[in-house]
Amino acid sequence: MARVITDVSTAAAALQRGELVAFATETVYGLGGVALWPETVAQIFEVKGRPTFDPLIVHVPDLEAARKLVTDFPPLAARLAREFWPGPLTLVLPKAEQIPDLVTSGLPSIAVRIPSHPLALRLLREVGLPIAAPSANLFGRVSPTTAAHVQGQLGDRIEWILDGGPCEVGVESTVLNITETGPPTLLRPGGVPLEAIEAIVGPVRRPAVTPLEETQTSIAPQLAPGCLPQHYAPLTPISVLDLSVAPLRGRLGALAFQHCPHAERYFSVEILSPHGNLAQAAAELFAAIRRLDAKGLDGIVTELFPEQGLGRAINDRLRRAAHRESTPID
Ligand code: TXA
Ligand code: MG
Repeated sequence: MARVITDVSTAAAALQRGELVAFATETVYGLGGVALWPETVAQIFEVKGRPTFDPLIVHVPDLEAARKLVTDFPPLAARLAREFWPGPLTLVLPKAEQIPDLVTSGLPSIAVRIPSHPLALRLLREVGLPIAAPSANLFGRVSPTTAAHVQGQLGDRIEWILDGGPCEVGVESTVLNITETGPPTLLRPGGVPLEAIEAIVGPVRRPAVTPLEETQTSIAPQLAPGCLPQHYAPLTPISVLDLSVAPLRGRLGALAFQHCPHAERYFSVEILSPHGNLAQAAAELFAAIRRLDAKGLDGIVTELFPEQGLGRAINDRLRRAAHRESTPID
């Protein structure tokens, strides 16, 4: 079992010794290690069971530290940073020499973020080194939004969890590529709504919304490997359906936005936001999937949420979770 702590200094000292520390951010818990040390970074991949072609996000406490990770911080990045940092936005920028290739999977770019969770910020300041941190889950599985979630999946593989309570945002950061000339490209919808970004920088390039039948994105995997289908999958098969159609048979769970028609036909029902608040739904999403996943169901059925604001990030995760299902629920 990992030790669940709230003392930032203990966590910072462990990181400085080259150990891994899972820590709270406002989006999801991250599995942190010093980004400058290849052996530490290699441990992150190993603990998660993550293929090394999937690059990591590097976390820093302020703009000055962010600038040291990149060779160029264009005006567009500066505008976005001013507006959304600290916060759930990750910027992909040209990588500085000093960052080991393992962090970026050999890409010439690096993903950078300043998280807004006060505990994460204190940790990053106290460590004084950039921290690589993917979500603290096993590769391809549901991201953790509490210390207990991390303990459940990685507790026997890591020593430390810095407990900052449940994550407020609940879905991962929005990832934006600004290494090319022209408008930025959305690599992953997340905690900062696309609309808020476009209000600052104008139209953003984005892959077409992926149809359910074919969850391949139009982005090459080596550009945004986290955009692979089959991410965020619970162990129970999940299907995205129209919930107004009554389920047929089986021990099924339902994951709904505001209400669940035919609720009595399901073994278990999770309503994410009765009042239709997408931010609240995002904050509840992964914990609700985990609760359903723990019930030994034959399947989970869910619906698509409104494709706006945080609904984009929610739908993205649901589509990917559903992708792995190979046999229809009947
Ligand atoms: O909210 C978050 O972003 C959380 C917390 C812990 O900060 N972290 C997180 O990390 O979600 P991870 O590793 O689960 O997702 C990182 C995403 C992946 O989709 C990865 O492919 C993409 O960022 N990424 C990282 N470096 C990249 C790069 N150089 N170019 C393009 N995409 C990159
Ligand atoms: Mg992840």
